[in-house]
Amino acid sequence: MITGGTELSSPRHIAIIMDGNGRWAARKGLSPSAGHKAGVERIRDLLSACRSRGVEVLTLFAFSSENWQRPPKEVELLMSLFHSYLRKEARRMCDEGVRLRVIGRRDRFSPRLQRAIAEAEEITRLGQQGDLVIAADYGGRWDITQAARQLAEQVVNGERSIDSIDEESLDSHIQLADLPPVDLLIRSSGEQRISNFILWQAAYSELFFTDTLWPDFDEAALDVAIAAFQQRDRRFGGRAAGGDAAAQA
Ligand code: IPE
Ligand code: IPE
Ligand code: MG
Repeated sequence: MITGGTELSSPRHIAIIMDGNGRWAARKGLSPSAGHKAGVERIRDLLSACRSRGVEVLTLFAFSSENWQRPPKEVELLMSLFHSYLRKEARRMCDEGVRLRVIGRRDRFSPRLQRAIAEAEEITRLGQQGDLVIAADYGGRWDITQAARQLAEQVVNGERSIDSIDEESLDSHIQLADLPPVDLLIRSSGEQRISNFILWQAAYSELFFTDTLWPDFDEAALDVAIAAFQQRDRRFGGRAAGGDAAAQA
């Protein structure tokens, strides 16, 4: 076990806001592109570290709805890194039994990138050893909006009544609904904000902020975050310690 105890369990689902590539590069006198390249290189090791620690799902925030505002050259580089990552890693993920899913808008990506996403998802479709979710052109507000829109369409089509719209039905249309809840949400680089990442899904996630810049975020940094998670008392609004509130109700 990570902290030496035997009873401590790892989070089932970790989500990470991979931030700090630009500052990492600037500190080395390099361009943001160099930071993004170094950042992508972290993902493979991190994914396997998660798997060896019993984490079932890793969700990574790669590109936000707002990141289109970056300089065109930087956006282009990020798109090309995403494309080559998918082309390079999908086969390896398939071999390792990792199922890949991309969440976000997609329609603003080039047809070539959209194809690469679809192919990577198809190649890894049968993976049963864990899930990697990449949030790209993703925004938490977009996610809630698209779920609301689907419910509205169902009402208009006569497939459901307004009364049937509740938290559960909305939740079932939000991304990741079929996966375990996000237990631990990590943000690197010292910023302490959500930046429009998983707004709905993080309602009861434990938050962990680290000053480590993303390209430096290694297995040891992951272990620090998991150890912090294991010390948290998750009450979910109840009173009992140890996350067993429901049993006390
Ligand atoms: C995160 O690194 C990567 C993306 C947002 C795509 P940044 O590029 O935001 O790094 P900083 O925040 O400028 O250091
Ligand atoms: C959030 O980081 C998005 C990703 C890490 C993909 P940003 O660097 O874009 O967030 P802000 O602008 O500091 O809030
Ligand atoms: Mg940033």
